[in-house]
Amino acid sequence: MTSATVTVTDEDAIRIVRLNRPEKKNALTLAMYAEMTRALSEADHNEAIRCLMIAGSGGTFTAGNDITDFLNTAGGGFETRARDFLHALSRRQKPLVAAVSGVAIGIGTTMLFHCDHVVAGGDATISTPFIKLGLIPEAASTLLAPMRMGYARAFSLLVMGRPLSAAEAREAGIVNTVVDAADVDKVALQAAHEIAALPPKTVATTRALMCSQLDDVAKRIDAESAHFRDLLQSDEARAAFTAFLARRK
Ligand code: COA
Repeated sequence: MTSATVTVTDEDAIRIVRLNRPEKKNALTLAMYAEMTRALSEADHNEAIRCLMIAGSGGTFTAGNDITDFLNTAGGGFETRARDFLHALSRRQKPLVAAVSGVAIGIGTTMLFHCDHVVAGGDATISTPFIKLGLIPEAASTLLAPMRMGYARAFSLLVMGRPLSAAEAREAGIVNTVVDAADVDKVALQAAHEIAALPPKTVATTRALMCSQLDDVAKRIDAESAHFRDLLQSDEARAAFTAFLARRK
């Protein structure tokens, strides 16, 4: 199940999904979405797995969707692969711990609303520049962010595109624990082991009750995806993607 850009390893009862494209800040390609979807879905049917962990590499969680893919796939790729990933992420039955180092941008941030426990490095920043790119937020974040953070903070993050530091994200209820950047994976893995040691059936039942708005989440993922697909083809968005890829360092 492992590819070069997403490695999936099972350590005891923990499945670790690692984004492994550090030279591109772990920007997510269509192939990476497919790998992540497979890793999540397969874990649901694998009794040996009790908890999952998602992590980045090279000091980065992820810079979000690959902008070259945005330009090349004219919306179709997002509509399929990314949306499939988001449904698998929101519907999965096993707890998921995120280990966030460095930047979490776009879907790197919005996927955190679907995680059960988030550990961030003191260097981490959380941001969603969708609007500035001519897009809208996805991953049902238009539903989940106001619920989790309150409308005012959600507007600042999702619409104004203001980043949150790790400490601010903890304050806002997105992050559980902020640790030294060097310790993020270790602390996240400890949390995963702590969850994996709990009785799995009662964990599953409690999660199902706590995540009782899953149908609304699924509908919102689809509604946002439809807008997103159309916006990907707009002149405004394509100009923003081209400007990013052409920028001088
Ligand atoms: N899609 C495609 N490529 C990306 C990317 C993305 N989302 N994010 C980073 N990269 C690539 C860069 O183009 C660069 O590639 P190159 O070396 O071939 O030129 C490489 O990753 C390193 O990125 P760079 O920008 O040089 O690193 P940095 O430390 O100066 O900045 C970021 C890092 C993440 C802040 C910056 O790359 C960025 O803003 N990325 C875009 C984030 C974004 O808008 N995502 C979409 C959300 S919907």
